[in-house]
Amino acid sequence: MEELTLKSTLIVAKLEELSDSERKVIEVAKESTYNSYAPYSHFHVGAAILLKNGTIVPGCNQENAAFPSGLCAERSALFAAGAQYPDQPVLMLAIAVRNNKGEFLEEPASPCGSCRQVIIETETRYQQPIRILLYGTKFTYVMDGIKQLMPLSFTEL
Ligand code: THU
Repeated sequence: MEELTLKSTLIVAKLEELSDSERKVIEVAKESTYNSYAPYSHFHVGAAILLKNGTIVPGCNQENAAFPSGLCAERSALFAAGAQYPDQPVLMLAIAVRNNKGEFLEEPASPCGSCRQVIIETETRYQQPIRILLYGTKFTYVMDGIKQLMPLSFTEL
């Protein structure tokens, strides 16, 4: 028997340490929280995706009285990008969250398991890791590829 330790590498960054394009994608994710429809959780999640052609596609969570019918911000942005720009690789994805008081979270929120799975599929589809930016007012987590958050992922049948 052998024990394996799986390692993840995340960068903890201040906004001023990020590039202009990273800050722009975070800005769109923050703006998208204002379009979130979250009357049940009051957890307003915004996402933004940078495509290779420079387009930034926004998304936000869309809730429903039948809870499983709603959708997370990350998947709403990724599916919108897939529907409109199927040939454009996804380079970057940012998320930001405002709480029930309308304030941005101090510490970043992380994508749920289903969103991680869809992000992995997108990386496989375009054959490149997606730079992930999880925004918080105190710091932003930055990572190169969702694999940092999802080791031993399921990618093929
Ligand atoms: N949510 C997201 O939009 N992204 C995630 O990765 C986690 C959760 C949404 C779903 C629901 O509308 C609310 O946050 C509370 O779970």
